[in-house]
Amino acid sequence: MTANELRQSYLEFFKSKGHAIIPSAPVVPENDPTTLFITAGMHPLVPYLMGENHPQGTRLANAQKSIRTIDIDEVGDRTHHTFFEMLGNWSLGDYFKKEAISWSWEFLTSPDWLALDKNRLACSVFEGDADAPFDAEAFEIWKDLGMPVARIAKLPKKNNWWGPAGVTGPCGPDSEMFYWIGDPKAVPDSFNDDNDLWVEIWNDVFMQFNKTEDGRYEKLAQQNVDTGMGLMRVLTAINGLDDNYRTELFWPLIQEIEKLSGLEYGEKSDEEYIAEDQKCWVDTRKSFRIIADHIKAAVFIMADGVEPGNTERGYVLRRLIRRAIRQGHILGIKENFTTKIAKVVQEIYGAVYPEILDDKLIDELDKEEEKFRKTLENGLKEFEKFISNPEGNYITRKVGDEIQKADWYANDDTADMVFNLYQSYGFPLEVVFEELKNRKINIDENKLKDKFDKRYKKHQELSRTASAGMFKGGLSDTKEETTALHTAAHLMLAGLRKVLGSHVHQKGSNINGERLRFDFSHAEKMTDEQKKAVEEYVNTAIAAKIPVELNEMTLDEARESGAEGAFENKYGEVVKVYKIEGFSNEICGGPHVTNTGDIVGTFKIKKEESSSAGVRRIKAILE
Ligand code: SER
Repeated sequence: MTANELRQSYLEFFKSKGHAIIPSAPVVPENDPTTLFITAGMHPLVPYLMGENHPQGTRLANAQKSIRTIDIDEVGDRTHHTFFEMLGNWSLGDYFKKEAISWSWEFLTSPDWLALDKNRLACSVFEGDADAPFDAEAFEIWKDLGMPVARIAKLPKKNNWWGPAGVTGPCGPDSEMFYWIGDPKAVPDSFNDDNDLWVEIWNDVFMQFNKTEDGRYEKLAQQNVDTGMGLMRVLTAINGLDDNYRTELFWPLIQEIEKLSGLEYGEKSDEEYIAEDQKCWVDTRKSFRIIADHIKAAVFIMADGVEPGNTERGYVLRRLIRRAIRQGHILGIKENFTTKIAKVVQEIYGAVYPEILDDKLIDELDKEEEKFRKTLENGLKEFEKFISNPEGNYITRKVGDEIQKADWYANDDTADMVFNLYQSYGFPLEVVFEELKNRKINIDENKLKDKFDKRYKKHQELSRTASAGMFKGGLSDTKEETTALHTAAHLMLAGLRKVLGSHVHQKGSNINGERLRFDFSHAEKMTDEQKKAVEEYVNTAIAAKIPVELNEMTLDEARESGAEGAFENKYGEVVKVYKIEGFSNEICGGPHVTNTGDIVGTFKIKKEESSSAGVRRIKAILE
């Protein structure tokens, strides 16, 4: 059975039971600022479950696009996804347990519908607690339908209660259905939810309660039914497959990745291996799956109007795209590839969800990949350098040729490094976690996340202060000495890039009339020769008396001209570029001297020291 046939027959079945078929809502909630994405079919229906009248009546069914990122770390196995379609039917104060369960059974087992083997089905019901009693009614209904008692599990709230979708709202006990995907001749007599050969395929929720803000469950005015059947899972199960990625909703994506990477899916399936030029352990099959899953989700999210960004939905989207790009890199895909995958997503789903057939989202994706790819390799280098630092955090790593398990401290150094990767190279925190995992390095993720968040907040405050100061040129005062040191700082940065390499960028600066303090990205201590070479570079420019040119241009033009720019996107569309021909070209608010000859004195580096992981600090003067 194909996905389209399954979707279609589900909707037809419920139409035959008097349900109106409603369209899928967008994955971005329309009236709910408290959640980022629609996570289940009932989510857009909350007001109606609470008692409002739905214009299409009291029996509804649909296929709903959903995004769940709660299990994002599990994506890579054969069953977890961030995007999925949920088939659902609802009763808004209309029918209740008897009809809901009987119809589920009929659809699954009737020869006219899915015709699943009854002997491969099992179910569970709520066992009862202080909030609600044992669901004897559901139990009896299943028994009457012919389900053997040993296949009806009674389970606690953790398993058999669903909702609310947010913090408060409709919820209730549920009854779940499972399908045996193991050997059909060896179906166990009793159902055991620890055995993952029993796959959950459908959930009937009996929404009788509203969870209040103070955590109480109050009875709703009406008794509702909310059911959800994961299209993907059922498709896999009924086609006798053991891997969702082998269904037609994924397989063309996997084939495209095979083409792009030259690797076969499953080729190195069971062994972990070290990608050739990278010191990490990966199961290539996992990389295939993450790419396919994440780009699919990204396409659906962008189709509903979200763009990659640094907060909320935009950040989730960015994280999905960047994680997929990183996995492509692991597979050795050298070219930009995400749009090629996205086009296959459009082929698979375009007829059912035409909103994804939008070229704009392909452009967006391309731009995002372009941006991240530029910095990916440098970021990885930076990361490698930090983790292989023997004085770093790491406990054991190399034993002979073997790289062994290491433990890592979530301390300030590590947090600085991780924040720098985020800020300078666009690595989402989660990508860093993954890099650590691929190298079998354990770390306290919560602690590191805490420290990361603190830095993120502080940085936001700082950049606000900086942009307020920017109106005055970003300087605390504009006395002549300060201005001269400011121009010297430009020359010095250019000198550092020449002497140390183009990985050097400004990370911060503080200039007063006496000295300049300047932070820049570089991992090692500078040698005396290097310091001397930088000083010479600056002093040569001073002696040459070169005009300092000021030009205003768009950020793109500035980039094209090769201008260096720290915090460049904080300046807005048109930027000032200060150019010292032959020496320096940098985006900056100014002010500067008009000729390098106006810099009075000899430039001297007084101190060079570590500022934070991967960042050095120079103190320099004009003497
Ligand atoms: N809301 C329930 C679920 O998501 C049933 O649709 O499982």
